[in-house]
Order: sequence, then C-alpha cells, then structure tokens
Amino acid sequence: ARTIAVSGSASGIGQALASMLRDAGDTVIGIDLRDADVRADLGGPEGRSRAVAEVLDLSGGTLDAVVACAGVSDFTVLPVKVNYFGAVALLDGLRPALARAAAPRAAVVGSIAGTHPVDEAVVRACLDGDEAAALRAAAKVVEAGAGSQTYSSSKSALAQWLRRACVTPEWAGAGIPLNAIAPGVVRTPMTEPLFADEAMFQIMNEAVPMPLNGYADAEVIAEALRWLISPVNTHMTGQVIYVDGGAEPALRDPGV
Ligand code: NAI
Repeated sequence: ARTIAVSGSASGIGQALASMLRDAGDTVIGIDLRDADVRADLGGPEGRSRAVAEVLDLSGGTLDAVVACAGVSDFTVLPVKVNYFGAVALLDGLRPALARAAAPRAAVVGSIAGTHPVDEAVVRACLDGDEAAALRAAAKVVEAGAGSQTYSSSKSALAQWLRRACVTPEWAGAGIPLNAIAPGVVRTPMTEPLFADEAMFQIMNEAVPMPLNGYADAEVIAEALRWLISPVNTHMTGQVIYVDGGAEPALRDPGV
C-alpha cells in the first residue's frame, strides 16, 4: 500500500481520486478547507506551510505520491493564490518526502482553460515566484472586466511551471515524474452553477467544445491521475494530458 497526499479531497475530482485510492488499499492524506485529514487554506502562506507540516507529520516523512487537485474558478484573484501558488507550494514543500519513497510520483490538475487567452503579466509573475506582483496584475485583470483570465492564467502558469521543474535535479534527478491532467468540463460542484445558468451554459459550450462523449464525470479524470501517479509510470514527465472530450484538438491547431 502507498501513502498519497491529495489536495481538494473534499469535493469533485479530488474526492473521486481519494475514494478510488482508499478503495484500492492506499492510505490517503486529504487536504482541504473542510472535511479532510488536514484542514488548511492553500490560498495563503500560513495555510500552505501548515498543510505541508501536517502532511509530513501524518505520513511520517515519506510520501509515495502527491496530487494537487484543490482549485477555484471564480472571477477574482483567488485562482492565482490557490491554483498556482497553493499547488506549487504544496508540491515543493512535499518534494523532500517524495524523494524518500521507492517510486515517487506527483501530479497536478491543469485545465483546458490554460489554452484560453491569458494575462502575460500574471503568468510571468507566477513563474517568477512573485505572488505580490501576480496578485497586483490579477487585480488589474479583474478591474478590466476580464476576470476569467485569472483562472486561465493560473492554469497556464501551472502547466509552464511543471514543464520547467520536471527536468531539474530536484524532480527528474530524484526520480519523481511530474505531470498534469487538463480536463475540459467535468460535472462537479465547481461547474454546477454553469449548468444551472442558461447564458453561462452557452458560453461554456463555445469555450470548451467536447465532441467525444460530452461532459466528463470526476471519476474519468481521477482514473487518468491514478495512472500518472502509479508505479508503472516510470518515464512520462512534464506532460499536460488533455482529458477533455476532444476540446484541445478542436480548439488548437490539430496539425501540430
Ligand atoms: P470542486 O469545487 O468540486 O473541488 C475543489 C476542492 O478544492 C474543494 O473541496 C475545495 O474546498 C478545495 N479548495 C478550494 N480552495 C481551497 C483552498 N484555498 N485551500 C484548500 N482547498 C481548497 O472542484 P473540481 O471540479 O473537483 O476541481 C478540481 C480541480 O480541477 C481544480 O483545480 C479545477 O480548477 C480543476 N478543473 C476542473 C474542471 C471542471 O470542469 N470541474 C475543469 C478543468 C479543471
């Protein structure tokens, strides 16, 4: 049995993954705002370091996998705090515990939104690790009425971060594959309001066309994450895998 830390374990994709792993006999350390083994707010520095400390404590200092699922999609600056800085802090903070495991793995949840228009200033500040600057740039985006770009920017930055980090001595050098699953639209509490509102539903359909089998259930994404963090994945790293019903090839140049 393996010991696996999952953020966002109280709902949606994280919850589906946590229960799948527990059913298979793994020990899951769930991290979330509520209903979790470790209750912490990954939106700020205090909660992030407490989450890392408590996971290290509960795991005994060795972790077989870490999956960062926690995320928010509102049109404020919060996605930058949680989806980017929260995820990166968790992975960086728990990396030493992964390095002690025999077959360590790490994964994050990106999004098809990472391919949508982004704010370059937000993305750059994220990649520079400058949260204050990222939040200032994100506040400008919100003020300008382009709130959805705080989310797309957070997910684009996360994908770019993982492509840079994955080949470094800290990750590849320590034998830790680091990958992302990027979903299209998944039926979870996060997207419930979009399904309920006719105007939002239409916007969502245009922004994320899913010709293959339509909207996904959380379990579909959880299964893909499960493969990424399983011991059989010895050589895939730095990849952003779109599990999105064809949205990515439909939206982007299919010739590349
Ligand atoms: P969800 O809302 O059902 O679950 C997200 C979980 O993260 C919740 O339990 C929430 O409490 C937790 N969380 C939020 N802010 C937190 C914070 N500051 N500290 C600790 N935990 C926090 O959402 P869902 O759909 O399961 O989303 C999971 C991930 O998948 C997110 O990163 C999201 O951006 C991503 N995603 C979801 C898609 C969808 O259509 N549902 C599409 C593409 C990506």
